[in-house]
Amino acid sequence: MLLTIERIAKNFGGLAALSDISFGIEPGQIFGLIGPNGAGKTTLFNCLTGVYKPSAGRFTFEDADITGISEPKVAQRGIARTFQNIRLFKEMTVLENVMVGRHCRTASRLWGAITRNRKTRDEEREIRTKAAELLAFVELSGPEDHLAKNLPYGHQRRLEIARALATEPSLLCLDEPAAGMNPQEAGELMAMIRRIRDRGVTVLLIEHHMRVVMGICDRVAVLDGGRLVTAGPPDDVRGDPRVIEAYLGKAPAC
Ligand SMILES: Nc1ncnc2c1ncn2[C@@H]1O[C@H](COP(=O)(O)OP(=O)(O)OP(=O)(O)O)[C@@H](O)[C@H]1O
Ligand SMILES: [Mg+2]
Repeated sequence: MLLTIERIAKNFGGLAALSDISFGIEPGQIFGLIGPNGAGKTTLFNCLTGVYKPSAGRFTFEDADITGISEPKVAQRGIARTFQNIRLFKEMTVLENVMVGRHCRTASRLWGAITRNRKTRDEEREIRTKAAELLAFVELSGPEDHLAKNLPYGHQRRLEIARALATEPSLLCLDEPAAGMNPQEAGELMAMIRRIRDRGVTVLLIEHHMRVVMGICDRVAVLDGGRLVTAGPPDDVRGDPRVIEAYLGKAPAC
């Protein structure tokens, strides 16, 4: 397993946002995490990526216990994420946003930035080249010098993905990347997620809409009310009466 989630719980005061969540993600998978509003999907990402400490349970990533470690340490370990509400440096250019993501991977950071020594200049060039390559990969080569805030919404989502990839993750966690996209943009995004997997990056994809994940995921876990309803191949999950019930009780999502 690349990531093993064991008996994770998270309480906010009296609210059990997550209870006893266990499943594993194999390397090379596109793994879908679905469930209605308030199911606990984002909370699970937040516990995994160091935003919150889980109340109980354990995350094992590449055979190391990473439970409760800080956000930068999670990134250094090789887990990157995007956010449900886009978080970009809006006053920086598109290229700079990706370069910032890349910095967590390079050695001579603070001291190098002060002295501007040769090693730093070489690294800077390498970071710039790599950032441009990632922008080409997410098909954002044109607006490299535009401010991030001026990009259309769907492009901002792709920029977030490029920035996350700049940390060279082995696991990329995407929190509703298709939210706010039209069907054509969402289709293009799904194709891009496949290409990311083909680069050797395992993908954990939160999606509210069941139909979107069914086409591209190798496995799917379903949360409802902070509990794991089921996890398995998409065809098994789709026909599971417990899953249908979880969705029927809520606003339509399919
Ligand atoms: N920081 C917090 N403090 C208190 N309650 C929280 C906090 N974060 C999340 N919750 C609660 O935990 C539950 C799960 O929320 P979460 O955001 O994880 O759901 P979600 O599955 O991502 O939903 P959505 O599809 O709407 O994004 C909700 O009841 C939410 O109100
Ligand atoms: Mg959420």
